[in-house]
Amino acid sequence: MTTSRGDDIDTPLFIAIEGLDGSGSTTQTDQLVSRLREDGLAAVATREPSDGPIGSLIRQMLSGRLVQPAPDGGTTHVGRETLALLFAADRLDHLESAVKPALTAGRHVVTDRYYHSSYAYQGDPGDEQPLDLQWVRTLNERARTPDVTFFLEADVDLCLDRLAERGSRDIYENRERLTELRDQYLQVIDTLDEEGERIVRLDADRPRGAITDEIVETTMDLIGS
Ligand code: TYD
Repeated sequence: MTTSRGDDIDTPLFIAIEGLDGSGSTTQTDQLVSRLREDGLAAVATREPSDGPIGSLIRQMLSGRLVQPAPDGGTTHVGRETLALLFAADRLDHLESAVKPALTAGRHVVTDRYYHSSYAYQGDPGDEQPLDLQWVRTLNERARTPDVTFFLEADVDLCLDRLAERGSRDIYENRERLTELRDQYLQVIDTLDEEGERIVRLDADRPRGAITDEIVETTMDLIGS
């Protein structure tokens, strides 16, 4: 069976959910998987940074629990290039160890974040030491393209409120950075869409049930097409 974009989707779907910190990607990932299961379909939720060895390392770095010694005797964060390489390495490990086995076993896979996050966060030109987006893309060129990506387009203030409620602030979570990241994300999403990726932009400033309904409807259409 083929879709309007001409690709074969008889096999289970590989779905990515993307958005700024606080945009609700984790909630929507879990909700989509629950709804697919309620319909009797096999589905698994996963995430990036993954729960594998490299993903765990990255999470510790982002939260500041893992630092490295600096020449002045203090501590410092790992460099941006290294972090971009780690995200790309985690992605390939995640694909090999979790995503592909689940797809092969006939389960739909929904990942909370994927390479779009790397293009937005590591490729952000507004960063103090910007990386070349093309280089970041090259690092990720072996990563499988999702069958569909849902991009949660949320207001920055709404994201910040949710993050404040959660009490979690990692190195990306302040208003100025989130605004820059939102711009970069939108640009990346538009570019990938123009290149032929199936990307659905969603207004995420709505009650979460309405967003889930839209995601489920599109997914069911794809499964049934
Ligand atoms: P996130 O899923 O938001 O973690 P948590 O739910 O624990 O807050 O991801 C952690 C951060 O990692 C988030 O700010 C986005 C960032 N990130 C990148 O910078 N590049 C990437 O490739 C990915 C997958 C995430």
